[in-house]
Amino acid sequence: MQVFITGVSKGLGKALASAYLSLGEDVIGIGRSHAFTDKNFRFISCDLENLEQVNNLDFGKLSASVLFINNAGIIGSIERISEQTSSDIQSVLNANTLAPMLLCQKIVKAFMPSEGLTIVNISSGAGKRAIPSWASYCASKAALDIFSEAIYLEEKERGRNVKIYALSPGVIDTEMQKKIRSTNTNGFSSSDAFKELKTSGKLVQPERTAQKIIQLLAEEYSGEVICSLKNS
Ligand SMILES: NC(=O)c1ccc[n+]([C@@H]2O[C@H](COP(=O)([O-])OP(=O)(O)OC[C@H]3O[C@@H](n4cnc5c(N)ncnc54)[C@H](OP(=O)(O)O)[C@@H]3O)[C@@H](O)[C@H]2O)c1
Repeated sequence: MQVFITGVSKGLGKALASAYLSLGEDVIGIGRSHAFTDKNFRFISCDLENLEQVNNLDFGKLSASVLFINNAGIIGSIERISEQTSSDIQSVLNANTLAPMLLCQKIVKAFMPSEGLTIVNISSGAGKRAIPSWASYCASKAALDIFSEAIYLEEKERGRNVKIYALSPGVIDTEMQKKIRSTNTNGFSSSDAFKELKTSGKLVQPERTAQKIIQLLAEEYSGEVICSLKNS
């Protein structure tokens, strides 16, 4: 199996890449940087906010079964939309929605139907529940959810062997949560609730979340595209 993972420099993506490498899989990281030295690791440099760079990626024809994890994501500027610039909004939608959509399109074209393809689009509970001062982030993940469902139906109509998950991973102890906690309460009414998640030990370590994802993918595919690790 070839495992593609976007955003492997830290957080969940780094933990997923480490976990798949320790299982002996070939891992291809896509992103701005990484620190892997494993012989089974390959890196494709790409800034996912830059759609020209994303468009220029070429996977050719893939010969093995493929697991493609669109993990990279940003929370963006945490403030009310009235306080944001248009480029704040654009960055979030580029990195969280348009880049994963373009990558899904490329991989759906490049995989070998006889070998099979699994796509995991890392989503968020914030794509189902609006959070003030996260409008772009919420919208970016909601769009990723419905996109994932639509392409699953397309591939099913074509009778192809494609499994697609739009997976909410739950709250994870990463840099993203650190950024959320460091935002002051004035423009972000949920600030205290996120600080409380850390102090009460409710954040899950990324390595644990990675293991839960591997476990989920090992189970029989139910065709439920929208899924969550929250209660697993
Ligand atoms: N943490 C949570 O509680 C939580 C909850 C729900 C969903 N999620 C989702 O889980 C995923 C992983 O988040 P995380 O918590 O692990 O975040 P993180 O620690 O901030 O890591 C994000 C990763 O994405 C990469 N990335 C960001 N912008 C990029 C760009 N323009 N081009 C290439 N790579 C880029 C980062 O690489 P650089 O080092 O280059 O920035 C990094 O490797 C995201 O999709 C996030 O929305 C997280």
